[in-house]
Amino acid sequence: MFKIEKPDDEIVEKVGTTVIADLVKISLSDDPSKFCIMPRKYTEKDLERVKNMEIFEDDIFVITFPKCGTTWTEEMVWMLNNNLDYETSKNVRLTARFPFLEWGGIIHHLDVDRIEELKNLPRPRHINTHLPIFMLPDQLWTVKPKVIYVTRNPKDAAVSWFHHHRHFHQYQGTKADFIEAFSKDLMFFSPMNRHVLDFWKIRDEPNILFLFFEDMKRNLEQEVKKTMKFLNKDYSQDQIDKLCTHLSFDSIKDNKTVNKNEELRRFVTSVGGNYDPSEYTFIRKGQVGGYKDELTVEENEMMDKYGNYAEFEEYGFEYKY
Ligand code: A3P
Repeated sequence: MFKIEKPDDEIVEKVGTTVIADLVKISLSDDPSKFCIMPRKYTEKDLERVKNMEIFEDDIFVITFPKCGTTWTEEMVWMLNNNLDYETSKNVRLTARFPFLEWGGIIHHLDVDRIEELKNLPRPRHINTHLPIFMLPDQLWTVKPKVIYVTRNPKDAAVSWFHHHRHFHQYQGTKADFIEAFSKDLMFFSPMNRHVLDFWKIRDEPNILFLFFEDMKRNLEQEVKKTMKFLNKDYSQDQIDKLCTHLSFDSIKDNKTVNKNEELRRFVTSVGGNYDPSEYTFIRKGQVGGYKDELTVEENEMMDKYGNYAEFEEYGFEYKY
């Protein structure tokens, strides 16, 4: 059903790292347009186990292409779906409240069986994933749990992914190579455009909520209310105001159970690196348009072309900047 091969482009060699090891292209055997770039560690067995995992009606999924506001959305969704339980939010790490589905299969030296762990998680389970539609559990489409999908403009996402790679995945290469690989759909988890479009096409299904990072940034209250309604919850204006403060950039950046500084420190130490929070924090800039300070003219042009994906027009999709 799946085909796993080495991509035929030397840029892929340049952007692999010791942490995510070699990148491979996983595609559907009968439809090569459905593909995803993954670390070599992600095998046929991982693909099958995710495809066949049991899904429950009350599961909540946050699905994103990396760096599109996953962490931010997870905290919003978890709080809304858990009666605004600030106490638990303060005491239990978000990574435990909202486990990352493919974690065990992507990091070279990690021995984690996430699929087994998820079986034992108390319900309702909150799960996050970056996997594209064709690699998701089959039962997602029959059981139809609630899915919150979030996207962001690809320039900010790519720049954020680059910094993540440098500090989390120990990427030693250049930004130019990274952006080239991203715009050729040859970066880890690529292709972004296809990822977004596949969810955009199903955005009107009753169990799907499609959000934009840029809308959350410009009017968080509106997006919180939209998500509250989608989750069939009802909170007062005062409660919503308090939640918006809790979800603000400064608050999330300072929030020890959410900001991932500790995860980053532990992870970087485990691969023999030194984590210096004065150089990088996971909750980094949180801006719309931050790419303007970071992309060269050539890189920006490459990403302009990337964001103008031919198929978007047909489906009425546009990134927000
Ligand atoms: P930057 O690297 O551009 O700052 P993910 O959780 O999908 O990995 O996304 C991380 C990105 O979301 C980072 O982007 C981070 O700063 C941003 N982010 C997280 N919480 C945020 C918030 N409350 N407001 C704005 N941006 C936020």
